[in-house]
Amino acid sequence: MTRGTILVTGAAGYLGSHTVLALWESGFEVVGIDDYSNSERSVVSRIEALGQRALTMIEGNVRDADCLAATFGRFNIVGAVHFAARKSIEESFAESLSYYDVNVAGTLTVLQQCQRAGVNAFVFSSSATVYDATQPSPVDENSRLLGASPYGRSKLIGERMLRDAAQASGLRYAILRYFNPVGAHPSGSIGENPRGKPGNLMPVVCRVAASRQSQLSVFGNDYSTMDGTGVRDFVHVQDVAEAHVHALEALLQDRETLCLNIGTGSGTSVLTLIDAFERANGVRVPHVIAPRRHGDVAAMVANVGEAARSIGWRATRNLDAMCRDAWRFAQTLGC
Ligand code: UD1
Repeated sequence: MTRGTILVTGAAGYLGSHTVLALWESGFEVVGIDDYSNSERSVVSRIEALGQRALTMIEGNVRDADCLAATFGRFNIVGAVHFAARKSIEESFAESLSYYDVNVAGTLTVLQQCQRAGVNAFVFSSSATVYDATQPSPVDENSRLLGASPYGRSKLIGERMLRDAAQASGLRYAILRYFNPVGAHPSGSIGENPRGKPGNLMPVVCRVAASRQSQLSVFGNDYSTMDGTGVRDFVHVQDVAEAHVHALEALLQDRETLCLNIGTGSGTSVLTLIDAFERANGVRVPHVIAPRRHGDVAAMVANVGEAARSIGWRATRNLDAMCRDAWRFAQTLGC
């Protein structure tokens, strides 16, 4: 028996595609919406092949109120998971208004249409980038917030809108602050496939391993961390996807508000990740030490106690699985 239909915005994206599968596995129906501005249409048929069923997809933009209203009118939607957004810190400095447009106006429009349609369960994609990264890790959900970039501020505004809307209406929301999602579906057929040259560590590691780039630049080895390189909380994308299902279930039962870090709670340095990748996959990742990257912080690791306590979610896949699955996807893609 179906547990209800969930609207997933950005369903063809990296997190969206894995979450559609996790929702199906938990007995939900899904209506996806995507404008394919940072994803490929072929992802939809790959999701369908993995789930062995058809995915209802609407081609549309989250700022298009009419499109959303028509979608809510056509399907009996009980909850929304809102991924569709732009997500590069660097780009957000150069294109700040576009970040406010897509991320803030997009979230506002989806929220308004949810309210109009009486949809009360809303899961929001936020990011660890909302925290003041100068404070020591691990950070918990009450740690100091900053939003040091237009991207970070657009996520903070989204969070704030949810809190205000919840006070004014019966909206139930979950804010999920992701740390560093990596890896891919173990089939190797969906994963992270950014348009243009990748900037995040794991996609770059894959490119170098596939000899599409001669070497990786390790941005700084003079941080005060275990080996001097940056430390992050890498978390498998399937664990991240499952967190959305747990959050949604909690909202559809009795939880009214959730704000949760989504990570593993353990930090991995850049050199440790490279080493783990080489060992897990039997490949070489040539690298050199380069200057620090502007805007980077030494360490950012989650305290994940609240997610375990409030929705019973905990990441279960280890660094080896993240490396193996990322590489399998990179190989099927031809990187
Ligand atoms: C970055 C974004 C963040 C975004 C997240 C996930 C920045 C400053 N932050 O976070 O907003 O939410 O990605 O998309 O852009 N590294 C190298 N060489 C590389 C690439 C990365 O050494 O070629 C290092 C970085 O210096 C960092 C670590 O790897 O220490 C992780 O980098 P990255 O994957 O870009 O993630 P974040 O910087 O945590």
